[in-house]
Amino acid sequence: MQAIRVHRHGGPEVMTLDDVAAGPPRAGEVRVRHRAIGVNFVDTYFRSGAYAPPALPFIPGNEAAGEILEVGAGVEDFAPGDRVAYVAVLGAYAEARNVDARLVVRLPHAIGFEQAATMMLKGLTAHYLLHRTFSVGAGHTVLIHAAAGGLGLILTQWARHLGARVIGTVGSAAKARLVQARGADHVIDYEREDFAARIREITGGRGVDVVYDGVGRKTFAGSLASLRPLGLLVSHGAASGPVEPFDIALLMQKGSLYATSPQLFTHLENREDVVAMSRHLFDVVASGAVRMTIEASLPLSEAAEAHRLLEGRATSGAMVLIPD
Ligand SMILES: NC(=O)c1ccc[n+]([C@@H]2O[C@H](COP(=O)([O-])OP(=O)(O)OC[C@H]3O[C@@H](n4cnc5c(N)ncnc54)[C@H](OP(=O)(O)O)[C@@H]3O)[C@@H](O)[C@H]2O)c1
Repeated sequence: MQAIRVHRHGGPEVMTLDDVAAGPPRAGEVRVRHRAIGVNFVDTYFRSGAYAPPALPFIPGNEAAGEILEVGAGVEDFAPGDRVAYVAVLGAYAEARNVDARLVVRLPHAIGFEQAATMMLKGLTAHYLLHRTFSVGAGHTVLIHAAAGGLGLILTQWARHLGARVIGTVGSAAKARLVQARGADHVIDYEREDFAARIREITGGRGVDVVYDGVGRKTFAGSLASLRPLGLLVSHGAASGPVEPFDIALLMQKGSLYATSPQLFTHLENREDVVAMSRHLFDVVASGAVRMTIEASLPLSEAAEAHRLLEGRATSGAMVLIPD
């Protein structure tokens, strides 16, 4: 089968389309033929070497949707032909792959393959960030950075659906219009404005209850400055580079703040959670409360172009790769 592989760390050009051997699924695994593969910012961290893959070469990609081809010993929940999607660490930029059945869910008929491939990693992340990391609800004001991005647009819509007041930051006027159209109460272009100062204006000097910050180095100081006393900084990504080491006493000085740096897979340890969180996600999407936005569908062979677009901040919403 064909798969994109990274043989050495570097820019998008290090990804090559290779013929790779594919074996049958092992016990507890299923073999999935991919119909659509999600592209995520985390894929660029593994490619560049910011995150360490288990070995080189490796197949990037962490989410996809398709059909079950074969099930390994001991798998009882799935059968060949089932429409499924999953999130799993690496191995998704391929025509097919074997994956741990614990991380696979059956797709409702209303959810298409492309849509599903944009919502397992990003949608389940939005789920735990809004329901577990902080329980967002009516009366809360939340700040979402890169609100026009793949995760950002889901967070924006879902937080609104939960009754929160949403303030989003974006890097262009076109992105600002999109985020506004998806329900944000306020949108700040952080390339043009001091977002922390604007947050103080918007909140009457109080600050927000929680900041969702996937931008990292560039926004860290402003994010802390945007919080109310006892507010929570959720540092879940580093699109602009990792946050510099900081003195933890800063949290005390800024008003007994909380800070956390969470990741999705901690929340997916138990099969029951994978199933329950996915069902909840599919329900909010099927209800129309959260719409997935697919910016581009590219052939699998154009994975490098997808990474260039993502790292060049040229995209809103999500991108998918389609095997030939
Ligand atoms: N911890 C977790 O569980 C988890 C799970 C999923 C995603 N994440 C993180 O969430 C963030 C969003 O992921 P995503 O896949 O949905 O990506 P994305 O938001 O679609 O793309 C990243 C966005 O970050 C903004 N950005 C600001 N400065 C940037 C810079 N110097 N270089 C590149 N982008 C910059 C850009 O938006 P503007 O142009 O509007 O600034 C860009 O579109 C990432 O940091 C990712 O690692 C974390």
